Parts: sequence; C-alpha cells; structure tokens
Amino acid sequence: MLKTLASVVLLSTSVAIAAPWGGSQQFGGKPHPPPGFFPSHGDHGKFGGHGYGSGNGSGQVPFTFPLANGFPNIKNPSPALTQIEKQAHGTLPNTPLSPTLQTGDNTIFELIAFNELFEVAFFTSLINNITQGVEGFEIGSPVVKNFVLNALITVQAQEELHALGANGILTAAGETPIQPCEYIFPSADFDSAIGFARTFTDVVLGTLQDALAGLAANGDEEYIPLIGSIIGQEGEQNGYYRSLLDLVPSELPFLTRSKAQFAFSVLNQDVVVPGSCPNSNIIDLPIFGALKVLAENIKGKDQQLEFSFTNNGTDTDSISLVYINQQNLPIVEKPTIISEKDGVVTFEAFFPFSKFIMNGLTIAVVTNDSGPFDTVDEVADATLFGPGLIEVN
Ligand SMILES: *[C@@H]1O[C@H](CO)[C@@H](O)[C@H](O)[C@H]1NC(C)=O
Ligand SMILES: *[C@@H]1O[C@H](CO)[C@@H](O)[C@H](O)[C@H]1NC(C)=O
Ligand SMILES: *[C@@H]1O[C@H](CO)[C@@H](O)[C@H](O)[C@H]1NC(C)=O
Ligand SMILES: *[C@@H]1O[C@H](CO)[C@@H](O)[C@H](O)[C@H]1NC(C)=O
Repeated sequence: MLKTLASVVLLSTSVAIAAPWGGSQQFGGKPHPPPGFFPSHGDHGKFGGHGYGSGNGSGQVPFTFPLANGFPNIKNPSPALTQIEKQAHGTLPNTPLSPTLQTGDNTIFELIAFNELFEVAFFTSLINNITQGVEGFEIGSPVVKNFVLNALITVQAQEELHALGANGILTAAGETPIQPCEYIFPSADFDSAIGFARTFTDVVLGTLQDALAGLAANGDEEYIPLIGSIIGQEGEQNGYYRSLLDLVPSELPFLTRSKAQFAFSVLNQDVVVPGSCPNSNIIDLPIFGALKVLAENIKGKDQQLEFSFTNNGTDTDSISLVYINQQNLPIVEKPTIISEKDGVVTFEAFFPFSKFIMNGLTIAVVTNDSGPFDTVDEVADATLFGPGLIEVN
C-alpha cells in the first residue's frame, strides 16, 4: 500500500544530515556509479571564502535538538505538525509515497534530510538571536525587525517540513530516517549569518541539481517534480538573502552545479560537531579533507588566490586545483606551492574571473588528476580536498 508523506508516522528520533545524491548523471552524459567511500576527515574548513571561523575552537555551545515543539520527532497527524504547517504557509504533500527507492536514491534523501536538519538548527538559532537581541544580532527598527523575523520564521517551518518530508520518503521506503547532529555556526552577527545562509543555500541549489540527475539515472522519476519545487523554494529564499546583502536577487543565468560529496563534506567540515551524529555514518558519501580559501572578500577580477590543506601523504607535485562555476566545464589550474610546514600545505592558483565571468558560487577542489574533466562527476571522483567555497557578487 502506498503511504503518503502526510500519513507516514515520522518515527521518533530525529533527522540529521542529508544523504548523498546517488549515482549521478551529467546533463546529457552517462550515468556514473557512486564513488567509493574514501574517508579523509578534514578537521575544520571554512564554509565560504569569507573568513568564517569554524570548529569548536570558537567556544560556542553547540545547538542541539529537539526543538520546543518536539521536532524532529513529529507525529503525523498531530497538533504539532499542523502548527508547523500553518507557520510554513502550507502542508506536506498528501500524494502517495513510493514503498521502495532505487539503489542510490536512499542516499539522495538521506543527504537532503541531513542538510535540512542543519538548516532548521541554523534558522532556529538565528531567530532566537534576533528575538533576544543577542549582541551583533540587534535590529533597532521594530518595523525592520518584524519584516526580517516574519520571513525567517516562515523559512524555519518550511525547512522543518523539508526535513520531515525527506525522512518521510525514507521511512515509507523502509529506509532509516536520518537523525540530527549537534551544530555550531560560523556566524557571529546578523550580516555574517545572512552571508552564510546565502552560501549554504547556493550549495544546496547546486546539490539538488545532482539529486535530480541521480533520481533520473536511478529510476525514481516520481520524485523529480518534488525536488524541482524545493529548488524553486530555496531560490526564493536566496533572492531574499542576497537582497539583504545588497546584491541583485538573481545570482547567475545558470546556477553553479555541485555534487552530493561536496555538500556532505562541507557540512561535516564546518557545522557538524565531530562525533555528534547518531547515524550519519549510513550515508554512503565520502568526507574529503578540508580545503581552506585564505582570501576574504574576493573581488570579481583575475587574481591569484591562496588556499591551504592539511596534507596526509599526498604528493603535492601531482595535484591540481579545479574550479566549478555555473554550468561550465570544470576549470583546471596548476597550483604553485608556497609552503609546506607541519603538514599544512599552502599554495596559490590563478582565478580566471574575466574569461568565464565567474560570479556567484565557485566550488574549488584539489584533485589528483589534471583532467581535462568533461563533467563535475569526474571531478568529484578525483577530489582529495574540498570544497573551498568562493563567492563573488
Ligand atoms: C590519513 O591517511 C590515513 C591512511 O590513508 C587514513 O587512515 C586517515 O584517516 C587519514 N587522515 C586524515 C585526517 O585524512
Ligand atoms: C564546544 O565548546 C562548548 C563551549 O566551550 C562546550 O560546551 C562543548 O562541549 C564543546 N563541544 C565539543 C564537541 O567539544
Ligand atoms: C547566535 O549567537 C551565538 C552567540 O553569539 C552564536 O554563537 C551563533 O553562531 C549565532 N547563531 C547564528 C545562526 O548565527
Ligand atoms: C585519486 O584519488 C581518488 C580518490 O581518492 C582515488 O580513487 C584514485 O585512485 C586516485 N588516483 C590516483 C591516480 O592517485
């Protein structure tokens, strides 16, 4: 019997991280098998090229679930779910859910759940900070404060439904729902929080493209429209964050492509408290070593950019730096090693802004292959460190 999102009882526990988008397919390309699991834990990377601190060195008290309403342990139906839906201005879909998922597609919904749980944590923390007037988050004007809170409170509930929806799809298919981790955030004031929201939403917008490719390649087309609806929804959010940051709402003609591996890696590197995830280990995705972008406030011009990573036996003569921007072919640059000290490799690489008009999100990774790469899938398969996230305009 088919279950619906609205009828699945979302079992206890929580949701955590998102799953990997399974075997993926490039636009017009051939399906690729999911990459093998090659653990190489980056300690702490930077979520974005904006100098966000990360890790627990910040002395932050980690964010923990459940929320006051019990989330992510929300029964369906229940007064708590109805309340979330009212706050979200809409409902979980009541259409039937598939009793099975094709191999690899469980990973897609696991990664979505993993990511959406983090997003709920982030927006809950941000709303609390603004409401309580935490230093750096005070908004003086009552009108502006209401304007911002109104949007964020709606988004927070919408993200709760995205997380419950992904875990509902997993549960209906007999898969294990993802439980939440503990989180820390790299933002310490309102502006950096909105900047961070803009960057992680960009990563989500790129990664959901990978989800669509995976669902199509693996054969769960029934969920493609649902994911399409979420891509539009996250795009609406990002237009709002960009406007708050005094950027034009629409970032690029064709948004930057990402891969499940990159999203999973950066969440684990930058916001997840190490060891705090009850079951994210079931998500069949690698966590790459962290790649730090050392430049801040990167301008839209040709320039050398500095990066660093903690080496773990990699022959630095054979590495390449690969940029992924928009829907263009991956750009391969040869790094120039600046120093290698106490295992930390610092290098620079050219950022060819003007040739490709590299606005918006650029994903930078270190590979052990100099390409040329026809697809982002090929880049992910050769990645050792990353992603470094660069934002221009
Ligand atoms: C370093 O490499 C070893 C051997 O390949 C691996 O077991 C370990 O997890 C790696 N550590 C990091 C931090 O990447
Ligand atoms: C992170 O730091 C906070 C504040 O010092 C502490 O309460 C928490 O236990 C730390 N978490 C981890 C995982 O070290
Ligand atoms: C909320 O404020 C705390 C304390 O300053 C900070 O550590 C945390 O990162 C803030 N949350 C967000 C989402 O920025
Ligand atoms: C490059 O790295 C990938 C991922 O770790 C690995 O599967 C592959 O064997 C490596 N290739 C070479 C030539 O070292």
